[in-house]
Order: sequence, then C-alpha cells, then structure tokens
Amino acid sequence: MNQEIMYIYSDLERLKKLNKVLSDKFFFEQRGYVLEDIPDYLLELSFPVKNPLPFLDMEGNNILDIGCGSGLDIYLIKKKFPDKNIIGIDISLPLLLEAKKINKELVCSEALELSFKDGIFSTVIMNGVFNLIRDKEKLLIEINRVLCNGGTLFIADIYKKFNFIISSEADLFNIGQCMMLSELYKMFKNYGFKYEFGEYEREIVPGIGIFAIKWRKL
Ligand SMILES: C[S@@+](CC[C@H](N)C(=O)[O-])C[C@H]1O[C@@H](n2cnc3c(N)ncnc32)[C@H](O)[C@@H]1O
Repeated sequence: MNQEIMYIYSDLERLKKLNKVLSDKFFFEQRGYVLEDIPDYLLELSFPVKNPLPFLDMEGNNILDIGCGSGLDIYLIKKKFPDKNIIGIDISLPLLLEAKKINKELVCSEALELSFKDGIFSTVIMNGVFNLIRDKEKLLIEINRVLCNGGTLFIADIYKKFNFIISSEADLFNIGQCMMLSELYKMFKNYGFKYEFGEYEREIVPGIGIFAIKWRKL
C-alpha cells in the first residue's frame, strides 16, 4: 500500500483547505456535475475528474466504486438508481467514514487486492484514482476478474500529451503516474477491454489533458 497517498487522503481538514483553493463551483460544473444535486459537505471533500453517470448503462445490479473517497458518485448513483447495490472501496478510512453517511457497503482496501469473487460486478468506476496506482497492469487484471463478461468499466483521470518525464511519483493531482492516451488504449486492449466511448479535455494545464472513458470487458 502506498503510505504517501494514504497520508495525503487521510487528513480531512487539509483536504478541505486544498479543495477550497482547487475546486470552486465552476470546477464541478466543468466536470459534468450539477451543483444543486450535491450537498455542500460532499463538495468539500470530493476530488472527481468526471461525472460517471452519463457513461453508465446500468444494465446489471452490482456496482463497485474503487477509490470512492467521501462517496460523491455513490451518492448520485443511489439517488438516480435506488435499487442498485454499490460497494465503495478506498484506502482512506477517514474518507470512508464520510461515505458511510451515504452507503453502508464500504471496504477499506487497497485497489490491487480486491477481496471479491470473480465476475460479480456489472459496473466498475474509478474516478480520479487510476493514476495513483503504481501497478496498473495488476489493477486491470483485478478489475477484469471481478467484472462480469460484457461489464462496464468507467475510468476518468489525467493524461500527458507528450512523452515527457514527470518527476513526482505520487501527489494529489496524480501527475507523476499519468500516461499518454496511445499507451492507455494499448494497455486496456491487452488486458481484455474494448473501447466504447470517451470524452476529453485536451489541455487543462500545458501538456496535461483529462480523459473519461467507458470500456467494456470482452
Ligand atoms: C482524487 S481522489 C478521488 C475520490 C473520489 N473518487 C471522488 O471523486 O471524490 C482519489 C481517491 O483514491 C483513493 N486511493 C488512492 N490510491 C488507492 C489505492 N491504491 N487503493 C484504494 N484507494 C486508493 C484515495 O484515498 C482517494 O480517496
């Protein structure tokens, strides 16, 4: 488990201060969220990249939110689809205690060690988490294992536009670990996922863009 990342996401007062500087209301709207739908306390402790709801077909019943944080996406999915079962996992216990106000089924766990049976989820979401994971190949093997055949995987994060070297390995913005889109497409294909649909912001800062992609397990 990455102690540095766990430390960053466990100090809630620090996270709230950071969010005040980084994520004004415009930020959430830009990321596809409707502000009136979200309670203020959740906005304070959420770090999403893109609203997953327009990407999800919601065919099955069991949804896994990896790196759910304080539970923003769980809150919105439950509001729209109250009958779905959603399990959130995260390495930050303090953020999960916030998510507990929304959802009972939460697991404090490392994303690379999912303790679920094969093929039990119809949908997996990772919103702003992918680049924090060092061993992305192992992660995709795990997600592939717990997803049912034909299941949906939504991943939103940042990507780099050129193959420049980024020194920071782990930080709040995930910059140190981000990939180029061409590398991403290749890796997902290699691990059994078919590209279905994507939305992109080409340049949020020079050289860095945002992707939100829906994949389907083959
Ligand atoms: C940028 S935040 C996004 C949180 C949430 N998805 C949201 O939209 O607000 C990244 C989250 O991933 C969690 N995380 C980072 N690395 C993880 C890992 N290896 N396993 C599980 N969760 C992880 C962090 O604790 C944090 O809650």
